[in-house]
Amino acid sequence: MYTPSPLPLLHSKRKVTMVSSYNFLLLISSLVFFTIISSSIAQRPKALVLPVSKDSSTLQYVTQINQRTPLVPVKLTLDVGGQFLWVDCDQGYVSSTYRPVPCRSAVCNQARSKSCVTECYSPPRPGCNNNTCSHLPDNPITKTGTGGEIAQDVVSIQSTDGKNPGRFVTVQKLPFTCGSTFLLEGLASGVKGMAGLGRTKISLPAQFSAAFSFHRKFAICLSSTSSLNGVLFFGDGPYVLLPGIDVSKSLIYTPLILNPVSTAGAYFEGEPSADYFIGVKSIKITGTAVRLNTTLLSINKEGFGGTKISTVNPYTVMETSIYNAVTKAFIKATANIPRVRPVSPFGVCYNSTSIGSTRVGPAVPQIDLVLQSSSVIWRIFGANSMVQVKSDVLCLGFVDGGVDPRTSIVIGGHQLEDNLLQVDLAASKLGFSSSLLFSRTTCSNFNFTSNA
Ligand SMILES: *[C@@H]1O[C@H](CO)[C@@H](O)[C@H](O)[C@H]1NC(C)=O
Ligand SMILES: *[C@@H]1O[C@H](CO)[C@@H](O)[C@H](O)[C@H]1NC(C)=O
Ligand SMILES: *[C@@H]1O[C@H](CO)[C@@H](O)[C@H](O)[C@H]1NC(C)=O
Ligand SMILES: *[C@@H]1O[C@H](CO)[C@@H](O)[C@H](O)[C@H]1NC(C)=O
Repeated sequence: MYTPSPLPLLHSKRKVTMVSSYNFLLLISSLVFFTIISSSIAQRPKALVLPVSKDSSTLQYVTQINQRTPLVPVKLTLDVGGQFLWVDCDQGYVSSTYRPVPCRSAVCNQARSKSCVTECYSPPRPGCNNNTCSHLPDNPITKTGTGGEIAQDVVSIQSTDGKNPGRFVTVQKLPFTCGSTFLLEGLASGVKGMAGLGRTKISLPAQFSAAFSFHRKFAICLSSTSSLNGVLFFGDGPYVLLPGIDVSKSLIYTPLILNPVSTAGAYFEGEPSADYFIGVKSIKITGTAVRLNTTLLSINKEGFGGTKISTVNPYTVMETSIYNAVTKAFIKATANIPRVRPVSPFGVCYNSTSIGSTRVGPAVPQIDLVLQSSSVIWRIFGANSMVQVKSDVLCLGFVDGGVDPRTSIVIGGHQLEDNLLQVDLAASKLGFSSSLLFSRTTCSNFNFTSNA
């Protein structure tokens, strides 16, 4: 990195009589210019990092950012397909740097808002200002939504070199939407909003990449236990997990598919979905294709069908005919394992004393999600397919999503744990690692000791 030395300046000062004043000024201004450039390069992080914990009672994945002036920690439920960051502004929002986003402003346009609150009938406060751009924050767990003003405030977050967290960096005017206290219902204890990582221009990944001019990529690695933190990275790799494994090197890619119709609880007409859809073409169990109605695997004009990833569904949800076909095929492939009475919400359970264990979890048939070609496979091993519901009962961790659901396959949290997922927004592709247990690491192996 170029670090300007103060010496040439002193030198030229002494020689000031020998150079024209014009040249002297030019020299000084170029030195000042270099100093500014080099210090801003030195301060600009390449990536950011957040710990992600698993809440044991709701099975939600929870993270925390620092927001407002003075800064306070704000706990948030992670929503990988969420449109933006929203927080409760009704209660406890105190900040001297809160700024409502005016109607028809650049940020309002970026948010694709189609709504302007000209008058809010109460004294001004965060969440209630006149002539403010508004959006529709929603809670996909309780399937509720509301109108809320868009605002900007300070956010502080730790940078990373991919191995450890580093110093805190600040975004002065990070856009978010004001939710209401009732919208927090069903969220994990202490949570004050949701961290939306979806495909919009005002989601957290888009805003952090824009603020620090780093790669429009982010990665999530969810821990399978509530006692240890998983990790969320904004920006490109390396993503190093102990013992020193750069898991960004083990990604396989599949194109992201845009669902042209919003899948949010409430949305403006014409808005596309913020969810990340991938093209599952077939499902194989121990190498044999399950017979499915393939129409359900693509997205139709009304935005129904297809496969998406979700951090708000604890388990994979499948449309009824797909669920029935997959469970039937799985039962056939496990005919030698004694089944036990199913434990809700699951339909297929086994006596776990009859199931061996492997490095990648219980020894059960692997389930393959076949993507754009027969060689691109998201392979689900026992650690991700089976859920231990009691000491001697293991269940297939898929649930029946009913007939005619909005999305045919929703790949849920349990199936994502200890897998690295990277979303590349610029290239519109998803990188996935399959089980990190094969690489002898897990998502709870990021070294959160700061090296700042
Ligand atoms: C909005 O404007 C109206 C009319 O000027 C005023 O009575 C009201 O207090 C204002 N509300 C806010 C939140 O500023
Ligand atoms: C397949 O699914 C589509 C969409 O739900 C439905 O219209 C069609 O009838 C189904 N086909 C069969 C053979 O069940
Ligand atoms: C599982 O099998 C063991 C050994 O045969 C038995 O003792 C236990 O009761 C079984 N558990 C269930 C839930 O059936
Ligand atoms: C974690 O990182 C810190 C700071 O770089 C380092 O001192 C420590 O040895 C690391 N821990 C492990 C287990 O490598």
